[in-house]
Amino acid sequence: MQHYSDISKNLETSIEAYRTKIAGLTPHELYDPLHYILSSGGKRIRPLLCLVGCDLFNKPYTKAIPAALAIELFHNFSLIHDDILDNAPLRRGKPTVHEKWNTNIAILSGDGMLVNAFEQLALAEKEHVKDLLALFSKTAMEVCEGQQFDMNFESQSQVSVDDYLAMITGKTAVLLGCSLQMGAICAGASKEEQNHLYEFGKHVGIAFQVLDDVLDVYAKDAGKFGKQVGGDIIANKKTWLLLEAFEKADGKQKERLKALLNMPATQATEKVNGVMALYDELGIRELALKEADSHTQNALQHLDLLEVDAEKKNHLRQLALHLLAREV
Ligand code: IPE
Ligand code: IPE
Ligand code: MG
Ligand code: MG
Ligand code: MG
Repeated sequence: MQHYSDISKNLETSIEAYRTKIAGLTPHELYDPLHYILSSGGKRIRPLLCLVGCDLFNKPYTKAIPAALAIELFHNFSLIHDDILDNAPLRRGKPTVHEKWNTNIAILSGDGMLVNAFEQLALAEKEHVKDLLALFSKTAMEVCEGQQFDMNFESQSQVSVDDYLAMITGKTAVLLGCSLQMGAICAGASKEEQNHLYEFGKHVGIAFQVLDDVLDVYAKDAGKFGKQVGGDIIANKKTWLLLEAFEKADGKQKERLKALLNMPATQATEKVNGVMALYDELGIRELALKEADSHTQNALQHLDLLEVDAEKKNHLRQLALHLLAREV
């Protein structure tokens, strides 16, 4: 986003400073993966939201740099471990850390990154550290809860859409809410303002995860998507698409779907093609896009309630819409 180019540049400089600090530290097996994942790109949406959340209240966004860095480190830590949990081969177009090195290295380097995230947060302005730490810790635990539910659901036959929404709120949405709220905390915003911003981020996050589920099946440009297309189907993930397919399927289609889910890993291609054919018959993709849109509208209503500079608010609105318009 053009309007945020200064903020983004400043953010990259801070991430670069962290990368430089850890480059060459020993043991290499612990630090190299951190350097690797932070050099592999990523949209940096969460730290950007954090800085924008501060700027929105007319305070220098630089006040929120430690919090923004903490968020991006936490996010990258969660990706390293998520890829172990999901048995994912690719991340940002490159081999995942556990594939390039091994699982033990991915566990330990992820742990190191999590520790560094908290270390960064402690560098925020003293008067805000307590509130930041409370929010960040609560959010991090909710992410763990969401991740555990996500794994439980893989083998659980009855999962409702409400269960799913609670699960993605934990694994994905609260971190976006937290990013914005941490920015607001750094700006000294009121509790009410913090809340509106948190709710806005959370609902953007729900829409974002539903779209991530869609992209996992329908990414047009697999290279740009950077992850294994069809990975969720292969892993029997209870995505919004799969739950909705079970909801919409008639008796015969349900049997087909169950048989597909029981296919062994050796038949991954047939499994993905079979599930996609059913999704197409049932119009699941269009329904998922509608579902994501309803959460986006919900998010925007929270943003509207915020009494801040109209132009800044509009830029944030555009940023959210831009994020949620990823190619599908
Ligand atoms: C990936 O998040 C994890 C999800 C919550 C879907 P992003 O899509 O923001 O990942 P990067 O940082 O841009 O690679
Ligand atoms: C990611 O959910 C949630 C976290 C990383 C905490 P996914 O498993 O759907 O994310 P991707 O698709 O691997 O990025
Ligand atoms: Mg994953
Ligand atoms: Mg996952
Ligand atoms: Mg995904």
